[in-house]
Amino acid sequence: MIPMNKADFEHSPSGSLVPTERGQWAFVPNPLPPLLDERAKAALTRPLADASAAVGELNGIGRLLPDPYLLIRPLQAQEALTSSSMEGTYTSLSDLLLLEAGATEENRAPDTREVLNYRVALTEAIASLNELPLSLRTLRDAHRRLLGGVARHRGASVQAGEFKRNQNFIGAYEIEKARFVPPPPTETLSCLDAMERFIHREDRDAHALIDAALLHYQFETIHPFADGNGRVGRMLIVLHLFQSGLIRHPILYLSPTLEGRKDEYIDRMYEVSRSGDWLGWISFFLSAVADAARQAIDTADRLRDVERNYRAALQQAGRSANLLGIVDLLFRTPAVSIPQVAEHLGVTYRAAQMNVQSLIGAGVLQEYPGTSNPRLYVAQDILKAISGDASDA
Ligand SMILES: Nc1ncnc2c1ncn2[C@@H]1O[C@H](COP(=O)(O)OP(=O)(O)O)[C@@H](O)[C@H]1O
Ligand SMILES: [Mg+2]
Repeated sequence: MIPMNKADFEHSPSGSLVPTERGQWAFVPNPLPPLLDERAKAALTRPLADASAAVGELNGIGRLLPDPYLLIRPLQAQEALTSSSMEGTYTSLSDLLLLEAGATEENRAPDTREVLNYRVALTEAIASLNELPLSLRTLRDAHRRLLGGVARHRGASVQAGEFKRNQNFIGAYEIEKARFVPPPPTETLSCLDAMERFIHREDRDAHALIDAALLHYQFETIHPFADGNGRVGRMLIVLHLFQSGLIRHPILYLSPTLEGRKDEYIDRMYEVSRSGDWLGWISFFLSAVADAARQAIDTADRLRDVERNYRAALQQAGRSANLLGIVDLLFRTPAVSIPQVAEHLGVTYRAAQMNVQSLIGAGVLQEYPGTSNPRLYVAQDILKAISGDASDA
């Protein structure tokens, strides 16, 4: 990796260099918004229209759902998985859902726990928007949730919920070799305050998708936390889109798309800092939005297919209200234990057990091998529909 070269950033139109405590150079981005020239604005018309159309279609699907959480929860699980795996924290969808359903922790538990934290942090941050507008506090709370109580096996010393106290850097293990050096801790708050003012400004001509692109770049470039910036910054995208009303439910998540285009994702942000290439970054971001919206639409279609198949299978099994009730539960939490089923249906343990047996017989549920106390049952078809491939589950 080529280290951050002073000459590369000296004449940057999008920020300035300041010395770090130890005599290196750090990049401080200008406050948002950048001035886009007419050529750039014209070039964005088409990608903006494409992305808006895909988001519009996804909103339409959200409106049709009897319960939007049937789509929100699976999409959030995928977001948690892919956003984390981009940062070297790996688990599988089944491990995530099993842990959530109460599985006892195993070897890979620290990573799985961190991914579950991501999911909780995201859900809580979205819910918090009902009480308080999106602010730095929202992001710090999300960070606290994400990294609180997590065993740091990667060596970083991270204060969960607190902004950085030491100079950080990106893309190397020592600052001398870093590809990019974000602002020093002393500059962080003023950069963030300006970002927060941008979020709250009133500009009727602004487009939420463009603002989300600007905000994500800005947050990543400020890199306010010692670690967790990628993940919290990707939460910021959905928080902003949801708060601005562009999406009617929190159903648009970029990480599954960004994960597959990670090098370009990072290079495009780097190029904004180096050469002011906002057009390159915003177009990339909009195409990721369009992709992500289409993927979410496909996920919704697959889930609907599974539901149809389950209902047909239950018809054969003599459809009872209890069995249908469990199927509803499974779309929210595809891994369950008998006590959870009993509680959901308000029936005895024994009755829940018999219902679960019927669903195993109908091919809806499978006992998950190796689980006990509690033993867990999984709807594999739902897992496959969520992950979009047959390999994960
Ligand atoms: N050159 C760059 N400019 C701005 N942001 C960058 C650059 N390189 C990487 N990033 C961002 O930094 C994130 C990684 O930061 P990090 O704090 O380690 O996040 P996490 O712990 O969530 O792992 C990447 O996902 C990306 O969003
Ligand atoms: Mg990291």
